[in-house]
Amino acid sequence: MLIRKLKSSDTAQVHKLVQITYTETTQDNLEAYWDPQIISGNAYGIFDHNNLLGFAISPFVQQSVEGPYFEVREIIIHKDHCNKGLGTQLFETLMAISDSYTEASKAALLVTKNNAAAISLYKKFGFTVDPDQRGSLLDMNRPPFSHIINSDNPGHAPAPE
Ligand SMILES: CC(C)(COP(=O)(O)OP(=O)(O)OC[C@H]1O[C@@H](n2cnc3c(N)ncnc32)[C@H](O)[C@@H]1OP(=O)(O)O)[C@@H](O)C(=O)NCCC(=O)NCCS
Repeated sequence: MLIRKLKSSDTAQVHKLVQITYTETTQDNLEAYWDPQIISGNAYGIFDHNNLLGFAISPFVQQSVEGPYFEVREIIIHKDHCNKGLGTQLFETLMAISDSYTEASKAALLVTKNNAAAISLYKKFGFTVDPDQRGSLLDMNRPPFSHIINSDNPGHAPAPE
C-alpha cells in the first residue's frame, strides 16, 4: 500500500471512485468540485499497485472567525475495501502531515449524523461530536484532534465560517 499526494493524472481514478461512492455525482460536479481540489495539491490517495483505493481532500488550513483551523474535507475508501483499516491508515498519514501546519490550533470536519463508519473513524483520532452542532471550534491538542461538526449536510459542504 502506498500513500501519496494526488496528481492531475489521477483524476480519472478519482472520478470513478467518487461516482461509485456517491452515485448521484454528475460530470459537472466532478469538474467543478472535485477536480480543482485534486490538482490543488491538497489531496492524498492510498494506492495498491497504482490502483486508487481511497483518497482524502486534506490537509489544509481554513480561516474562520475564530482563527485558522485544520480541515479534512473529504475521505473516501472504495466500498469493496472498506473496513480493512485503509481509512485509518490514510487518516494517520494526514494527521502526521498536519503537524507541520503549526498555524492551526484547531481542527474541524463535517460529517452527516448517520454516517457511523466515518464518525467511528474520526473518533479514533480524538475528534468528538459537537453536542450543540453549531460548528464552533474547540482548541486542538496535537494529538488528539478534538472536533467533529455533526451536520445534516450530506458531505461536500464547506465548513462553517
Ligand atoms: C468513512 C470511511 C472513509 C471509513 O473507511 P474504512 O477504510 O472503512 O475505515 P477503517 O477500516 O479504517 O475503519 C475505521 C473504524 O471505523 C469502524 N467502522 C467501519 N465501518 C463501520 C460501520 N459501518 N459502522 C461503525 N463503525 C465502522 C471500524 O470498525 C474502525 O474502527 P476500529 O479500528 O475501532 O475497528 C469509509 O466508510 C467510506 O469511504 N465511506 C463513504 C464515504 C464517506 O462517507 N466519507 C466520509 C465523509 S464525512
